Order: sequence, then structure tokens, then C-alpha cells
Amino acid sequence: MTHDPYVIDEMISAKSIAARIEDLAKTIQTEFKDTDKLVVVGLLRGSFVFIADLVRELDLPVEVDFLEASSYGDGMESSREVRILKDLRGQIEGRDVLVVEDIVDTGHTLHQVIDMLNTRHPRKLKSIALLDKPSRREVDMRADWTGFEIPDEFVVGYGIDYAQRNRNLPFIGKVRFT
Ligand code: IMP
Ligand code: MG
Repeated sequence: MTHDPYVIDEMISAKSIAARIEDLAKTIQTEFKDTDKLVVVGLLRGSFVFIADLVRELDLPVEVDFLEASSYGDGMESSREVRILKDLRGQIEGRDVLVVEDIVDTGHTLHQVIDMLNTRHPRKLKSIALLDKPSRREVDMRADWTGFEIPDEFVVGYGIDYAQRNRNLPFIGKVRFT
């Protein structure tokens, strides 16, 4: 597969992301202050950097698990039907759970993942997304907490890819074709 040439313009700096995560972690800690252990569920693969930074700011007993739902494949289009490609290793019945997503775009992924996890009867289920593109929404879905609202731009970095590239950038940047 070949790609049109593109450049990446910085949109959110590494420093702003770190500062925002400190705030979000405080809110999560308050919400789950009585938990015996919080199961933090990262949605692969885009959330892997975010979840790594987030759990290190959480002063709570945590467990980390991962779930992979089908997404864009190698392009920029959302697949409206979400399939579970890799399920959790652990049980969540009766547990406190925080789902960690990179971006809520059309909303289909988070919506369907949350519905599926709710069928397993967690005690409390909350969700957090680093980025939110509300203008792209197709289903009525919001994460309980959001890092940044962004306009309808295709972004990469900080774990987020374009055709598997640019996940290793320390900041969030927007893709601009040249
Ligand atoms: P949704 O189901 O449309 O909400 O899509 C959510 C998923 O699409 C996210 O978990 C991302 O993996 C992917 N996605 C949405 N917007 C972008 C983007 O701007 N860059 C890269 N991936 C994106
Ligand atoms: Mg994703």
C-alpha cells in the first residue's frame, strides 16, 4: 500500500498532554477512591501510550487489561460494525472498571464496547478518552471524561496511527497532505 506524502503539524504538545493527564487522574481517583482494585482497560492499539501515562498518575490499586476492537483497518474510514479481536484476560463481574480510549470519533467503537462490557455486570464502569471529535458523532455517546475536544482533523501521535505509522510521536499532530 502506498501513501500520499503528508506532513504532521503539532496540535497538542507533550507538555499539555501531561498536564491534562494529571488533572484527569485526580478526577478518576476521586471517583474510584473506595475501590479495592480498579481494572483499567486499554483499547488496543491507540490507547497504549495514554494508558501507560495515566496509570502512573493514579494513586490507586490498579490492574491493567487490554481489549482490541476492530477499527479503521489501514485507512481513514470508520467501520461502523465493531468486532472484538482480542478479549480481556480477566473477569470484570462485580469489579470497578475504567475503559481507556484514544479517540471518540463516530462513537461506534466506545458505544459498542461499553454495551458489551455492561453485559458482564461490572460494579461500576466508566470511560475516558484522550480526544473527542464531537462534530463527527453518529451515535449518542460520550466518554465520562475527555482530555481534549478537537475539530474534524485526522490526527496521529501519542499512540495514534495513520496506517500504523507515527504512533511513536510524543505529541498529537494533524495530518496534512502535501
Ligand atoms: P469511532 O468508532 O468512529 O468512534 O472510532 C474510534 C476509533 O477510530 C479510535 O479508537 C481510533 O482508533 C480511530 N480514529 C478516529 N479518529 C482518528 C484519527 O484522527 N486518527 C487515527 N485514528 C482515529
Ligand atoms: Mg482505536
